[in-house]
Amino acid sequence: MCGRMTVHGAKNAVLPMLAASVLTPAPVTVRDCPHITDVEDMLGVLRALGVEVTVTDREITVTGSPACTDIPPGLAGGMRSSVFMLGALLSRCGEVELASPGGCRIGARPLDIHFDGLERMGVRVECGDGRILCTADRLHGADIVLRYPSVGATENLVMAAVCAEGVTRIIGAAREPEIVSLVRLLRKMGADIAGEGSPVVTVRGVDELDGASATPSPDRIVAGTVMAAVAVCGGRVELSGADSSDMGAVISPFLGAHTFLIEHGGAITFESDGMLSPTDVCTGPYPLFPTDMQAPFMACQCFAAGMSSMRETVFEDRFAHVAELRRMGARIAVAGNTAFVDGSGGMRGSVIAASDLRGGAGLAVAALGAEGESILSGTVYIDRGYEDMAKMFSSLGGKISRRRV
Ligand code: UD1
Repeated sequence: MCGRMTVHGAKNAVLPMLAASVLTPAPVTVRDCPHITDVEDMLGVLRALGVEVTVTDREITVTGSPACTDIPPGLAGGMRSSVFMLGALLSRCGEVELASPGGCRIGARPLDIHFDGLERMGVRVECGDGRILCTADRLHGADIVLRYPSVGATENLVMAAVCAEGVTRIIGAAREPEIVSLVRLLRKMGADIAGEGSPVVTVRGVDELDGASATPSPDRIVAGTVMAAVAVCGGRVELSGADSSDMGAVISPFLGAHTFLIEHGGAITFESDGMLSPTDVCTGPYPLFPTDMQAPFMACQCFAAGMSSMRETVFEDRFAHVAELRRMGARIAVAGNTAFVDGSGGMRGSVIAASDLRGGAGLAVAALGAEGESILSGTVYIDRGYEDMAKMFSSLGGKISRRRV
């Protein structure tokens, strides 16, 4: 695998930034957006709310005030990130109704941390019949202690707090770079926020927000997925736009005697001879190894001669790809939240199916490295977060093509 590719804005930054656009009637522009279906779905949500959406290649501008606060069930159910509309619409309209959000089936994914925090700010939450109704007469600041550093809850509470009365402190906040991207946009819009990227985020409510434009952080998971493919196939790829300062935990398991990494002026070059060493990896909240890289990296472990392990601590049901990797010859034993991967047996092509976004990416990586041909179905999940993955990998020399059925 050889060549150069550009890493665009992170899905997990772009989605909450787009949600934040309803916090003001003035135009909000998000640049460098990826062409993925999760972004299209979010634009569908925004259009259904009655705001104006203009798309110019990778630049999305949202203008106007929501005409309603009810997110249609078909839209909300299909995409987890519609949950960000909770904080944004509550802040702007004092009300929001949506179906229990969907997204990848990677665990129960409850919303109690979101609701507990919102309730502390004066929100009434009613759930029933698959619908969630939240209302507030006036949001007020509060000290909110998160029992877990939830990415989505941190983002929602920040958006709920920007125009609330008084000061909100989110204690035990998530620290992901995508949250920092959201806060940078909000600050440009006039919000008064401090501490993003640290465990305590402080938001002082302001009267109103104005329009602004901002660029999200680059997608560290897309960059990491390409590194995984290079690691199993061998080669050298330059990832232009990737930001290594946010990627320490993503990069570190890849480093070893058989790999070489250079960081240079806004790009990362990663080289591998395709010989992998066994590793022990554990996922966790940022700055630990991201759960979104678990499946792509487990694919690498399947090629590392010897015994590796992968412990998943963020989501309780994120090993769906294991059964498919086994079809390709992987020797993986799962005990509780840990997968033990014996990579000494080799991997062969097979007929495999993705059932979630990152699991699908892991299967594509495994298929690229395996002997023989694989047929991967369930690409609809991969399209949620990767921009034409077949084109991306084939432009780097990977033997992969997409067949419409
Ligand atoms: C976000 C990302 C997702 C990533 C995940 C972890 C987006 C759109 N999605 O998802 O890609 O995999 O962060 O980095 O940005 N939890 C609760 N109660 C809650 C909220 C969360 O128990 O109210 C639990 C979840 O079930 C999970 C853990 O907390 O076990 C982390 O979830 P969270 O950080 O909220 O992930 P998401 O925001 O859903």
